[in-house]
Amino acid sequence: MPDANFDSSRSVPTPQAVPLAAYAHDRLRAEATEILAATGLVTRESVTLALPKPSIPADLAFPVFAAAKAAGQNPGDFSQRLADAAVVPEGMLIGAVTAQGGFVNFAVHPAAFAAAVIEEVEAGGAAYGNDKIVGAGQKTVVEFSSPNIARKMHVGHLRSTVIGHSLVKILAALGYDVISDNHLGDWGTQFGTLLAAIDNDHLTPWDDPDPVQSLVEVYARFNSAAKDDPTLMDSARAWFKRLEDGDPWARQTWQRLIDLTLVEFDKTYRRLGVAFDTTHGESYFEPMLAPVVQEALDKKVAHIEPGGAVVVEFGEESRLPSCLLRKTDGATLYQTRDAATCLYRWREYAPVRNIYVVGAEQKLHFQQVFEIVRRMGYKEIADRSIHIAFGAIVDAGGQRFSMRKGTAIFLEEVLDEAVTRARALMQASMAEGRTEITPEEVDSVSEMLGIGAVIYADLYQGPERGIKFDWDKILANEGNTGAYLQYTHARCRSILRKALPAPGAETLLLVSPEEQAVLKQLSRLPHAIREAGANFAPSTVADWTYNLAKAFNDFYHSCPVLKAETSGLREARLALVAAVAQGLKNGLGLLGIGAPERM
Ligand code: ARG
Repeated sequence: MPDANFDSSRSVPTPQAVPLAAYAHDRLRAEATEILAATGLVTRESVTLALPKPSIPADLAFPVFAAAKAAGQNPGDFSQRLADAAVVPEGMLIGAVTAQGGFVNFAVHPAAFAAAVIEEVEAGGAAYGNDKIVGAGQKTVVEFSSPNIARKMHVGHLRSTVIGHSLVKILAALGYDVISDNHLGDWGTQFGTLLAAIDNDHLTPWDDPDPVQSLVEVYARFNSAAKDDPTLMDSARAWFKRLEDGDPWARQTWQRLIDLTLVEFDKTYRRLGVAFDTTHGESYFEPMLAPVVQEALDKKVAHIEPGGAVVVEFGEESRLPSCLLRKTDGATLYQTRDAATCLYRWREYAPVRNIYVVGAEQKLHFQQVFEIVRRMGYKEIADRSIHIAFGAIVDAGGQRFSMRKGTAIFLEEVLDEAVTRARALMQASMAEGRTEITPEEVDSVSEMLGIGAVIYADLYQGPERGIKFDWDKILANEGNTGAYLQYTHARCRSILRKALPAPGAETLLLVSPEEQAVLKQLSRLPHAIREAGANFAPSTVADWTYNLAKAFNDFYHSCPVLKAETSGLREARLALVAAVAQGLKNGLGLLGIGAPERM
């Protein structure tokens, strides 16, 4: 168990009173339950269904152990009695019921199942797999990205952005009313430092060719000079105080820093296809800070130390170290701002979940913030607040990722490097005649491939793990990579450019094991999305998409499509290819990855 926040018991409960959207996947379960209940040997309530192991030729199983015990029979006999008594009515998706050991196994009716799955993918289109009933319009805040003004985004922000973006899409597909927020780091004493440096040296960083880089350097220079001259730090503090007090020049200059940094961030967000509903930086909560500190004092959650600092002590049993809400000079802290943010979200949205996608190194910070809020009497929002923590990015050798020796790696560099490598791969395929893309498409396809590779490398495993960045592996078009999924999508589209499925194809014909394997995987998307949403785990969707691509490629290598044995089968297989293309596109889309037409 990596983190208490991943405990599935804390996941969003599915409102049981309302039926789920009735996908084939759900109908199978409902039918199995009906068939069992109709025997009169078990009650509907006592039926829980499981997925059989892949080696078992069945699609659903009822483990009878508890029911057999209640009936005073041994499981083997009881499962046989159930299977013998089971009647499968005409028109069901279930085709056969058998007993095996302590299980009653259900297998689909291949033809009926094929027709139902293709039909629902066609009908659902881009919305196939969504289930708006789960979230039922409940508000959910997802805070992600949250980079710092006057700094560049680094790989940690990349992870936050990619994971958060996918979570927003998954939760929206489940019908939650998602509020995505970019909690910019735009407040704090570092802005006093920048203002002091700009004022002292009459700097105009906004006129520089790379203004954000200039600010990073200005900041570093000022701090190192301050080591020899402590009065510099006093002037930085004084400037932050002036900023807080609304000094016009300070406010105006600070706003300029925000604006010029956002120009850079927006370029990155555009490349990643990311947008936010709100961009409430830390400064937004400034007016709420004094009241929060006061409330914490009134409620005896915090106390004032002799020097004037406001401190929260959590006590022995909580194992949390104490923290400050206000310094002796009156300045507030990161914790103060986050406590205010959390309470703001509660008052403003009363969300069912308040999610923070932030690196694992801030785990303690969020534990403290949620505990402060809880002790202030806001138990509900404390319980609903979740820190989705993620690990660091390491290179192929297991070292913390850094491209330029000794410096942190920046997000923009990672994306550029990925796209450069992707372009080289695309050019090589063109030179060898292995791709259908045209020279005009090289840029757009390379961008999609490079960025898709980076996103997928981040999402295919759970966020709590660190991720390994091995350029050759993540860009390979085989194995569990974004490129493999994109290539598979392009392969489907390529077939469909040669022939489109005619309406009314006889999808009942899709009964071969390879075809059924594809259909079964396709049918599980609704389930994968629900599970991903309940556990805040985009990797569940990544996994589903990968397994669909694999099943499709197995099918493609053993079943001719355009040259199928009969024209009926050709039409049916084309319909299957179209459904797979749709499924891959939907899965990739939920991860924030583009699905190219050609590759
Ligand atoms: N700006 C912070 C950073 O770059 C992340 C903010 C995380 N969100 C929060 N509510 N504290 O490290």
